[in-house]
Amino acid sequence: MAIIPSFGEESNKTSRKKRGADSEREEISQVSESRADSNANANTNSNKDSEPRLEQSNAQLPSGKRSTVLSAGETAADVRNDAALRPSTLSEYIGQSRLKAMMQMSIAAAKSRGEALDHVLFYGPPGLGKTTLSRVIANEMNAKIHLTSGPSLERPRDIIGLVHQLEAHDVLFIDEIHRLSRVAEELLYPAIEDFAIDLTSGKGHATRTMRLDLPKFTLIGATTKAGMISNALRDRFGFVCRLEFYTHEELGLIVARTSGILGIELTDEAVHVVASRARGTPRIANRLVRLVRDYAHYCGQAIVDKELAAAALTSYQIDSSGLDPTDRRFLQILIDHYNGGPVGIETIAATLGEDSDTLEDVYEPFLIQNGFLQRTPRGRAVTPLAYTHLNRTVPAALQAMQALQLNLELNNGQNSADDK
Ligand code: ADE
Repeated sequence: MAIIPSFGEESNKTSRKKRGADSEREEISQVSESRADSNANANTNSNKDSEPRLEQSNAQLPSGKRSTVLSAGETAADVRNDAALRPSTLSEYIGQSRLKAMMQMSIAAAKSRGEALDHVLFYGPPGLGKTTLSRVIANEMNAKIHLTSGPSLERPRDIIGLVHQLEAHDVLFIDEIHRLSRVAEELLYPAIEDFAIDLTSGKGHATRTMRLDLPKFTLIGATTKAGMISNALRDRFGFVCRLEFYTHEELGLIVARTSGILGIELTDEAVHVVASRARGTPRIANRLVRLVRDYAHYCGQAIVDKELAAAALTSYQIDSSGLDPTDRRFLQILIDHYNGGPVGIETIAATLGEDSDTLEDVYEPFLIQNGFLQRTPRGRAVTPLAYTHLNRTVPAALQAMQALQLNLELNNGQNSADDK
């Protein structure tokens, strides 16, 4: 095989958080798109994009900053590239099968009654397809989608301007809905509940309120922080749906679909390698396919086998479990500085040079879900798996504690079996 190049990470200037926020502003600032538009996007083949884009990853990233490769947050490059990859119908949408079945039924029922779909709240870690699914729902409803985000609806006039554009059965998508201002949230209540908005003019005794009727529309809210949504807002959604991490098989299907659209051939084993490093997240899976494609082009290979896929991803410092240098540093800091924990998230954040929100939203869900990290009442603690993954010896005390826990679980299982 050709010489295998090794690529570093992206510059600090484009740290995940900033890029995430920037790209969001680019894409989600009160845009409306018609069904035809979203289909056109979905059908666009990205051949124009097939030039290797290796230079974007060349600068070294100071430790503690996540490369954009594995960040589940959306980057400007994702926004540019993913349009062609987005599924446009529920049948094209892979994964979230229970949620999809429920939506399929509710959409069919709403359409048969000639009604708008009830309001939906999607929550879950970033990159799992909350926006994609919302676009799909709008498309399935033959409706227009208007995309915006909580922070951009600061003033009453932002909301009024937005709802003014709505037509019957349209979808209003508000990303980061937990970041709506109090004023915006209160203005939205009658819009959601009664399809009307109360406009106020004047001050003091001269205050006047005028109610403006709105067409029946569907609000889709998305958040990574369900706990930060007020009960009053949450209760106004007909559906409250959690998006789950994708299984290995689902990610494999997404990787195969994406490589087909991008025109790069991956063997089944290569698909498996990419899927297993995608952290349960389609956005990352798609990003890895693009990296592998660039790498294969660079090496002059037409077909990607498992060795090439593994070499490509390893050269971007993504290990066999999908951990990147920052994940490993997160675990290493806990092991080396805090005896494996438990330690508070703010302390870890300060040591890593990240903010605690980013750690909680972006890093931790995957590390916890995959058994590298535990959240305890006294803070975060690494598991024996973290030690073995980093080629460290599991401390005897941790081993003993794990054996004790296992015994307790076995005994509890035995007791409950005896009780039956
Ligand atoms: N691309 C990103 N997410 C996807 C999904 N869930 N199904 C198909 N393609 C996707």
